[in-house]
Amino acid sequence: MISWRKHYRQTLIAIGLLLSTSASIYGQDGDPKNGEKLFKANCTACHALDKQVVGPPLKGVVERVKTEGGVDTAWLHKWIKNNKELRASGDKYANEIFEKYNKTEMQLFPNLSDKDIDDILAFTTNPPAPEEPKKDAGTATATDAAQAAPANNTTTSVVIISLLAIAALLVWILIKLRQLVKLGQSEDLAGLNATRVKSFSEIYAKYHYVGKGLIAILALLATYGIWNWIMWIGVYKGYKPEQPIYFSHKIHAGEQKIDCQLCHSSAKYGKVSEIPSMNVCMNCHRTISEYGANDYMEPGKDKAFYDGEIKKIYAATGWDPEKQQYTGKTQPVEWTRIHNMPDFVYFNHSQHVVAGEQAIINSFNKKNPNNKIDVVCKACHGKIDTMNVVQMANDFTMGWCIECHRTTEVDMNNGYNKEYFKNLHDKLKKQYPKDGGKITVDAIGGLECGKCHY
Ligand code: HEC
Ligand code: HEC
Ligand code: HEC
Ligand code: HEC
Ligand code: HEC
Ligand code: HEC
Repeated sequence: MISWRKHYRQTLIAIGLLLSTSASIYGQDGDPKNGEKLFKANCTACHALDKQVVGPPLKGVVERVKTEGGVDTAWLHKWIKNNKELRASGDKYANEIFEKYNKTEMQLFPNLSDKDIDDILAFTTNPPAPEEPKKDAGTATATDAAQAAPANNTTTSVVIISLLAIAALLVWILIKLRQLVKLGQSEDLAGLNATRVKSFSEIYAKYHYVGKGLIAILALLATYGIWNWIMWIGVYKGYKPEQPIYFSHKIHAGEQKIDCQLCHSSAKYGKVSEIPSMNVCMNCHRTISEYGANDYMEPGKDKAFYDGEIKKIYAATGWDPEKQQYTGKTQPVEWTRIHNMPDFVYFNHSQHVVAGEQAIINSFNKKNPNNKIDVVCKACHGKIDTMNVVQMANDFTMGWCIECHRTTEVDMNNGYNKEYFKNLHDKLKKQYPKDGGKITVDAIGGLECGKCHY
């Protein structure tokens, strides 16, 4: 069962994330056009120019921090790159605004260069006139289709195998029947139980068409049963249920570049990686009550649709957007769980997201040079940030776990493993001299039944 599932490796469309540096042909003061791009890609999840979103409005922020905090552009660079570090250093103004915004964490941007930040600041100082909105109709459907495709192949081959099996079974039954009939006609038996056998062979001679008809019906029923069973297996990969709120990962994690772990924060610390509570949504949606970025609408959906979905957050949390207060009337949102291992399986996110992070990313990128990932989650969950509706990207079977453990080289030098495997390490290196001493997950127990089963 596992061997055919193992074969299909998804081929998702690679989407380039090329929003980093462009050649620095611009002057010291920054290029507002490039700044706008960077701002849209990195900041609009929490900031707008003119109104407060999660963080303060950023129009004219260079001037404002000068007057309000007495700090300069160098401070802004530090803040934007790593506000946490700046706060930890005891910086007064940094801690002040953190308090003022209810200790809401701003994302860190260590990857933005000084030039990028100058560009963004130039944009906030001098925003150009707004451009015409554009829709991305084509890409959305193309991606969906590409993701749906691989599942069908295997289903077809499974059906063919099952049909062959049924055909073989039918032939076998017919041969058996013929043997029975022959037995009935043979001398030995005739004496023993002549009447019964005789009557049977008579019945067979008379009614064998009916008999064959019955067998055909049985075969059809069996096919139907097997078909259902196949469909049930198919529930793994590609499973894509409708959710009570049309929450789009493409919009949040893709277009708005919100970090997976801002919402699935427990992935790092624990066994499960829970669905965020409605309060997490409210951190942003208390102020984002409308869908404004027309750029990213899916074909067939309009602003009213998205606005309606955002209102469901208010209904769930009992937030009255008019009065800007909670009414106390809440109603839980019942998300349909998509990934769900059987109870006897032990899977731990932090083992993979923290200890295994680099190992998994490196190994995945080596195996898929044309479809590289930047975030560890995508190795197992696929390119979630391109999905409007979450879909299971792998089959999540035992064979799938093991295949990765066999082929992923453990990073023995990361803090966790260095500590844990201090003594084992050298011994393992001797044991696995093939491939120049590469140590894959199976070597540290990744194939032991007890590691994955209670
Ligand atoms: C996850 C939400 C989030 C993202 C994304 C984000 N910020 Fe912030 N930002 C905040 C919050 C919240 C504050 C208010 C201070 C606090 O609570 O830490 C803030 C404060 C600031 C401030 C200080 C403003 C002042 O008035 O003192 C600047 C400057 C800033 N952000 C720039 C940026 C830039 C530039 C980007 C994009 C590269 C960005 N932020 C992305 C949430 C965010
Ligand atoms: C703004 C919050 C938010 C962000 C950011 C976010 N998610 Fe989610 N995620 C959700 C919500 C809400 C659900 C449940 C609804 C659904 O399935 O779409 C969910 C569901 C999921 C599921 C399916 C869970 C199940 O039921 O089995 C996976 C897997 C997932 N997210 C992975 C990711 C990854 C990977 C990223 C980053 C690329 C990410 N998420 C970013 C909010 C978020
Ligand atoms: C870090 C900020 C942030 C968080 C947290 C967040 N959102 Fe959003 N959400 C946004 C932004 C930004 C938009 C797009 C607004 C726009 O383009 O005008 C958006 C759009 C939406 C939309 C309309 C588009 C769509 O995806 O269908 C819905 C519905 C929505 N959010 C639901 C949720 C839910 C449910 C949660 C909690 C699980 C959540 N959001 C958490 C920032 C956030
Ligand atoms: C090594 C593969 C792997 C990686 C890497 C991974 N996941 Fe998962 N994820 C799984 C499996 C397996 C399940 C099903 C777990 C279960 O049912 O107990 C799952 C389930 C989930 C769920 C559903 C809730 C739950 O915990 O059962 C969410 C949400 C999720 N993952 C998000 C993430 C995010 C976010 C990341 C990155 C920070 C991530 N995953 C990284 C394999 C992975
Ligand atoms: C994408 C590759 C990948 C997949 C898929 C994967 N794992 Fe792992 N797993 C790893 C890596 C890498 C490690 C080693 C982490 C480390 O460095 O400690 C690991 C470690 C483990 C460990 C700890 C082993 C030990 O001896 O400490 C367990 C248990 C485990 N995985 C269970 C699972 C289960 C259950 C599944 C399937 C539901 C699964 N894994 C799927 C890559 C993967
Ligand atoms: C790397 C993790 C991992 C290891 C090691 C592992 N299993 Fe599993 N096993 C799983 C997962 C995940 C499932 C659930 C598969 C599913 O739901 O399709 C599973 C399912 C099973 C099942 C149920 C039948 C099935 O295929 O669904 C049996 C029986 C089983 N495992 C036995 C074993 C035995 C015996 C060993 C040791 C030789 C072992 N497993 C080692 C992850 C593992």
